[in-house]
Amino acid sequence: MIIGIPKEIKNHEYRVGATPSMVRALVDAGHQVLVQSQAGTKIGFSDEMFKAAGAKIVQTAKEIYDVAEMVIKVKEPQDSEFPLLKKGQILFCYLHLAPDPIQTEQLIKSKVVAIAYETVTDTQGRLPLLIPMSEMAGRIAIQVGATCLQLNMGGKGVLLGGVPGVAPARVVVIGGGIVGTESARMALGLGADVIIIDKDLNRLRALDAQFGPRLKTLYSSPLTIEEAISRADLVIGAVLIPGKTAPKLITRQMIKKMTPGSVIVDVAIDQGGCTETSKPTTHADPIYIVDDVIHYCVTNMPGACARTSTQALTNATMDYALTIANKGWRQALLNNVGLRNGLNVCYGQVTNESVAHDLGYNYVPPEMLLHEALV
Ligand SMILES: NC(=O)c1ccc[n+]([C@@H]2O[C@H](COP(=O)([O-])OP(=O)(O)OC[C@H]3O[C@@H](n4cnc5c(N)ncnc54)[C@H](O)[C@@H]3O)[C@@H](O)[C@H]2O)c1
Repeated sequence: MIIGIPKEIKNHEYRVGATPSMVRALVDAGHQVLVQSQAGTKIGFSDEMFKAAGAKIVQTAKEIYDVAEMVIKVKEPQDSEFPLLKKGQILFCYLHLAPDPIQTEQLIKSKVVAIAYETVTDTQGRLPLLIPMSEMAGRIAIQVGATCLQLNMGGKGVLLGGVPGVAPARVVVIGGGIVGTESARMALGLGADVIIIDKDLNRLRALDAQFGPRLKTLYSSPLTIEEAISRADLVIGAVLIPGKTAPKLITRQMIKKMTPGSVIVDVAIDQGGCTETSKPTTHADPIYIVDDVIHYCVTNMPGACARTSTQALTNATMDYALTIANKGWRQALLNNVGLRNGLNVCYGQVTNESVAHDLGYNYVPPEMLLHEALV
């Protein structure tokens, strides 16, 4: 198979869809890999390293999209990439379509086979291609949250861990999944006072067992959230209902009750955000203020630590990419129900139920498209 790795063009996105190690694995399996020049230079993967791993270096994204049977990238295609997509081309990357009607329409129009990292599942129903980036984002959320609490950033001037004789900051994490767990780990590690809120009691039990009494757990309800965040210095939004737009658990009224200079890091912003006042921001301009509360809503947080992120992501995507390349998308998806769950749009049909429901499209189960001769 001809596989293309274009350079990412989303604002301040320096991750890349494959490392030289991943390229080597694909080439060793008999595939041809094209890498766009400078795709990994910023994070220490030079064109020479990709070449040494067996890739052919090309200058433009168009040269990749023109011939690649599978395009492996990190973030969803941007406006300038939509016209480059080809019918039947496999697009393997993060898509987050539910809150993005424009991209969904473009993918439908282009008739690509779009397999979204974020909806691929493993045998236990987890999201193996979201996990590494959620681990990254959860940890980064505390770093940026701690920085935003500084006075020079507009924050209330509170140090997360306090010092001997001064109480630590209060951190409230809403959603105790991967992001929430890693945020809690970092915040506890820095000495903060941490509450985690989830609606899954078994999650709360597991967190309680994992962290012991230093972590306080609360069952999620509107009143609990309101009370907890009104006392918080830093709030991390980390909820997820897979494939769905995030529920707006924090209302504008709740924000008004927070103390001035408090911070919300809404990690769930890539699914629309869990705060009524959240709107997507970029690494170039990451924060804004509503009712004296600093909002950090960067949709691609792991991009801030792009080298670590790329290594973590490709550790998880490599085996799937190899399977698709070796077997072709139909056979790969037939054999693996988890990978099949990644199929979001295929030859003009929406094949993810949540995306179809949220955006008002007819849902076509992926199984229906695996045997057909598609045109
Ligand atoms: N901004 C970024 O750069 C970035 C990076 C990675 C992940 N994310 C996003 O972070 C979010 C969390 O991801 P994750 O991997 O931790 O998901 P996850 O599925 O591991 O965890 C989500 C948690 O939210 C909980 N939850 C659902 N509804 C809730 C409610 N009403 N109240 C409280 N808790 C509730 C679930 O029980 C679950 O424990 C997702 O939207 C994901 O896309 C964003």
